[in-house]
Amino acid sequence: MTRKRAAVLISGRGSNMTALIEAAEADDYPAEVALVVSNRPDATGLERARDAGIPTAVVDHAPFGEDRAAFERALDATLREHRIDLVCLAGFMRLLSPWFVSRWSGRMLNIHPALLPQFKGLHTHRRALEAGAKQHGATVHFVVPEMDAGPIVEQESVAVREGDTEATLAARVLEIEHRIYPRALRALAEGKIGPAAATGQAPAD
Ligand code: GRF
Repeated sequence: MTRKRAAVLISGRGSNMTALIEAAEADDYPAEVALVVSNRPDATGLERARDAGIPTAVVDHAPFGEDRAAFERALDATLREHRIDLVCLAGFMRLLSPWFVSRWSGRMLNIHPALLPQFKGLHTHRRALEAGAKQHGATVHFVVPEMDAGPIVEQESVAVREGDTEATLAARVLEIEHRIYPRALRALAEGKIGPAAATGQAPAD
């Protein structure tokens, strides 16, 4: 089995990244986490990745200022240098342009802490509580240019409990995230979902 080379893109603590790294340690897992990239040099997830022996890279967005295209070219170049096949956004807090998204189309997943198409964007747990939602959850989806709008790959729900706070709800949703993201990456790496099923190739230059 040739394992797909996955990169995990983070901006923070990287608990989903850790879940992917741990899943990929299984002999029969069809992907390896070949690279962790952070756009923030101080992301605590970087340390966790290094501890796990995973190559890391920092592509800091700050020096690029408003020049998002240049930042994305640097990010894209880093992924290509490491011969990455698949990209997993895991708490990566930068919006990606149609140019970048199209380069990784069908090969890039994101995890969102809500039952999409409900509660796109930020502060999903607070908004679910304010809306009186009875069910909440997490979704893994393909990345398309429109934020949190791509085809859904995996989704699981959790009941909202009486007395839930943002923190208690977030903690239960996070357990779901750590379960569904490894499942989604497995499906993508095995070519069971998405355009990778058709070609199995890295994106063309
Ligand atoms: C997760 O809740 C993820 O769904 C959201 O950002 C959070 C990242 O957490 N996109 P972590 O860095 O994976 O711990």
